[in-house]
Amino acid sequence: MFRTANRRSPTGFLAVLLTGIIVLATAQGGESPHNNYMIHCQGCHLADGAGTPPDVPSFAGQLNKFLQVDGGRAYLVQVPGTTNAPLNDADIAQLLNWMLVRFSEQPLPADFVPYSEQEVARYRVELLLDPAAKRRALLATLPR
Ligand code: HEC
Repeated sequence: MFRTANRRSPTGFLAVLLTGIIVLATAQGGESPHNNYMIHCQGCHLADGAGTPPDVPSFAGQLNKFLQVDGGRAYLVQVPGTTNAPLNDADIAQLLNWMLVRFSEQPLPADFVPYSEQEVARYRVELLLDPAAKRRALLATLPR
């Protein structure tokens, strides 16, 4: 009598539903910027962004300065650690916006324009052939 109702148990239905939700969440990214930083960046850059200079640069007090020079915004996206991360453009934009706040010693300038998914996509199609040379050139122009 209850055979039809029992064919799909409530537990089975819930399992299918949950799997669907998890697949959807994974496909759309869904990790917080902090989690993405811990998963993909912290291994080299460390939790507090101190890195291991001179090999891995320190972010503290310096990362936001790249925003103030020509080509600096693009560089933060095109540097291999950022652009090669298995993250979509929207996640990269959120991650960089989070990092810029997290690793700045002072509040970001009032005219700071956060990265958007579209801006990241635009920079990401270009390959940075020599990141070290680009970094040196930009550093020479950064404000002290
Ligand atoms: C395998 C080590 C490694 C990992 C993992 C890594 N980076 Fe980096 N990162 C570097 C090195 C080394 C540099 C210096 C530039 C270069 O040679 O690539 C750098 C430079 C940067 C810079 C430019 C800052 C500067 O002062 O030049 C940014 C922004 C950055 N990384 C973001 C990230 C983000 C975001 C992630 C995670 C999604 C990440 N990195 C993961 C090693 C790493």
